[in-house]
Amino acid sequence: MKCASALVLFFLGLSSPQKANSVLTEPPYTFIRDDSFNYELLVQFGTVRYQGASVADLFSAAQAIKPKNTSSYNTTFYQLAQQSEKRAEATNDPSVAQDSYFFASGYYREADFYLHDNWSDPLINCYWERQTTLFDKAIASLPVPGERVVIPADGFETIGIFYKPDNYSIKRPTVLIGNGYDQAQEHSLHANGFAFLEKGWNVLTYEGPGQPTVRRQQNLGFIYDWEKVVTPAVDYLANRSDVDMSRLVLQGISMGGYLAARAAAFEPRVRALILNEGVFSVYEGFTQGFPSSLLELLAAGNTTAFDKVVEDAILFNDSASTASRWGIAQGLWSFNTHSPSEWIEKSKNMTLANIAQLIQVPVWVSNPVNDTTFPGQAVKAAKAIGAKATIHNFTGAASLHCSAGAYEEANWAILSWLDGVFGSNHSSTRG
Ligand SMILES: *[C@@H]1O[C@H](CO)[C@@H](O)[C@H](O)[C@H]1NC(C)=O
Ligand SMILES: *[C@@H]1O[C@H](CO)[C@@H](O)[C@H](O)[C@H]1NC(C)=O
Ligand SMILES: *[C@@H]1O[C@H](CO)[C@@H](O)[C@H](O)[C@H]1NC(C)=O
Ligand SMILES: *[C@@H]1O[C@H](CO)[C@@H](O)[C@H](O)[C@H]1NC(C)=O
Ligand SMILES: *[C@@H]1O[C@H](CO)[C@@H](O)[C@H](O)[C@H]1NC(C)=O
Ligand SMILES: *[C@@H]1O[C@H](CO)[C@@H](O)[C@H](O)[C@H]1NC(C)=O
Ligand SMILES: *[C@@H]1O[C@H](CO)[C@@H](O)[C@H](O)[C@H]1NC(C)=O
Ligand SMILES: *[C@@H]1O[C@H](CO)[C@@H](O)[C@H](O)[C@H]1NC(C)=O
Ligand SMILES: *[C@@H]1O[C@H](CO)[C@@H](O)[C@H](O)[C@H]1NC(C)=O
Ligand SMILES: *[C@@H]1O[C@H](CO)[C@@H](O)[C@H](O)[C@H]1NC(C)=O
Ligand SMILES: *[C@@H]1O[C@H](CO)[C@@H](O)[C@H](O)[C@H]1NC(C)=O
Repeated sequence: MKCASALVLFFLGLSSPQKANSVLTEPPYTFIRDDSFNYELLVQFGTVRYQGASVADLFSAAQAIKPKNTSSYNTTFYQLAQQSEKRAEATNDPSVAQDSYFFASGYYREADFYLHDNWSDPLINCYWERQTTLFDKAIASLPVPGERVVIPADGFETIGIFYKPDNYSIKRPTVLIGNGYDQAQEHSLHANGFAFLEKGWNVLTYEGPGQPTVRRQQNLGFIYDWEKVVTPAVDYLANRSDVDMSRLVLQGISMGGYLAARAAAFEPRVRALILNEGVFSVYEGFTQGFPSSLLELLAAGNTTAFDKVVEDAILFNDSASTASRWGIAQGLWSFNTHSPSEWIEKSKNMTLANIAQLIQVPVWVSNPVNDTTFPGQAVKAAKAIGAKATIHNFTGAASLHCSAGAYEEANWAILSWLDGVFGSNHSSTRG
């Protein structure tokens, strides 16, 4: 059989090289015929190299999940979560337990992902408690246990988790990692955190208003002036004896590309900035697909009509795509409003216009060329930041939003750029 298929490919290659090539190499890879579910699955495939999920579980999820059926999505991941949790509790092998707790925690996060259209669904908090408990069991078994930290901020608390690679008492380069519109800081450990730990960095992941734990526990939606979240976290790091403040890096993921840039504009202690991706205007990203008739209602101040159209056409419309329904539902939940017009209004201040020039440190800007969430925004952000920005175009398998499905490629690029900024010796394990 192997010879036969190789022969077929060979002839295909002779007669139609482009076609053969596209079958093998062209993203996006489609596991589920639903853009939103498929993207989420790729996000998880990206974490496999970093203990976030099992390939076998993800393939079985791809078979069980039905397009547009969010119940099939949450049910599938709930079952996978339970399976992993049971394995973790039953085993005597600490490494099986660690993997399984991490997987179970991630699958509970996925079981929650599409539930936010109904704020009173008790599963929103129930699944979160499970993901937190199981994640904490996993990080307690790391060589140096991860440490949850609660950092007093401006009328709220920034919630973080601090990780370090070993117990040598020396000062190390440190990365502060923040997510965007939807993902949790627990996910950030798998997406980027482990890659930094492997290279001898400390990692502090954090969440502010609008993000999973702060939204749930403090009932706060997103704010645009993100320095209020980050500066207290930098104060916390400055106070630790194991952080080298001359090598402090801030990383923002997805909409966090705006949030981190905003914070760095007002926080001079950040010495290099990673925007994964670059976002110049969050408002432009949110409204890119809206027909002009809808935007005219908003411009005319007719918020009642605007809200009704968004609800009827998208949010409560069974025929609308999962991606657009989820996008609105997650926006309302994370900005803590039931009004689509208020959600959009709040995003208007989320722009680098007038503040990009305040950023005085080297900035790495990711530009995955097939991104559809914030298309064109990375180029705009890099242009506004100017000579301090280095844009990195991701193509091929890494070309989707935040390089979903190809996190190692993103991490190689980020860490190699940081080698250039700080000198390659920053990575050595003993400093
Ligand atoms: C959606 O998926 C659930 C769980 O797999 C299933 O019970 C239900 O029948 C599906 N709904 C539709 C409309 O296919
Ligand atoms: C899945 O979500 C639906 C609401 O969309 C809910 O009715 C159902 O109980 C959930 N099932 C699981 C296993 O989470
Ligand atoms: C939202 O969830 C609550 C609690 O499960 C339920 O009683 C209510 O019917 C749900 N609302 C909708 C619109 O599905
Ligand atoms: C590092 O220190 C912590 C806290 O004292 C301890 O739990 C952990 O086992 C130590 N790890 C190693 C590898 O020595
Ligand atoms: C710094 O550390 C001291 C002593 O541990 C503590 O009292 C203080 O609250 C810390 N400050 C910050 C900003 O973390
Ligand atoms: C808002 O728009 C709706 C639908 O186009 C229209 O019927 C209504 O008169 C408008 N209201 C105002 C105050 O302009
Ligand atoms: C629901 O969505 C479908 C597909 O996008 C669209 O054709 C239809 O007009 C929408 N319904 C309403 C009431 O807007
Ligand atoms: C936008 O920012 C200005 C200050 O620059 C502030 O006065 C205004 O309240 C903000 N609007 C929102 C919706 O946050
Ligand atoms: C990705 O972007 C490249 C460059 O713009 C383009 O050639 C390619 O067709 C795109 N691929 C997909 C799947 O959209
Ligand atoms: C990166 O992509 C942008 C378009 O997204 C393009 O304008 C630019 O020339 C590309 N840069 C490189 C170095 O390929
Ligand atoms: C890097 O560190 C090693 C070992 O500490 C040292 O031998 C080497 O000279 C350093 N290289 C640079 C470029 O500083």
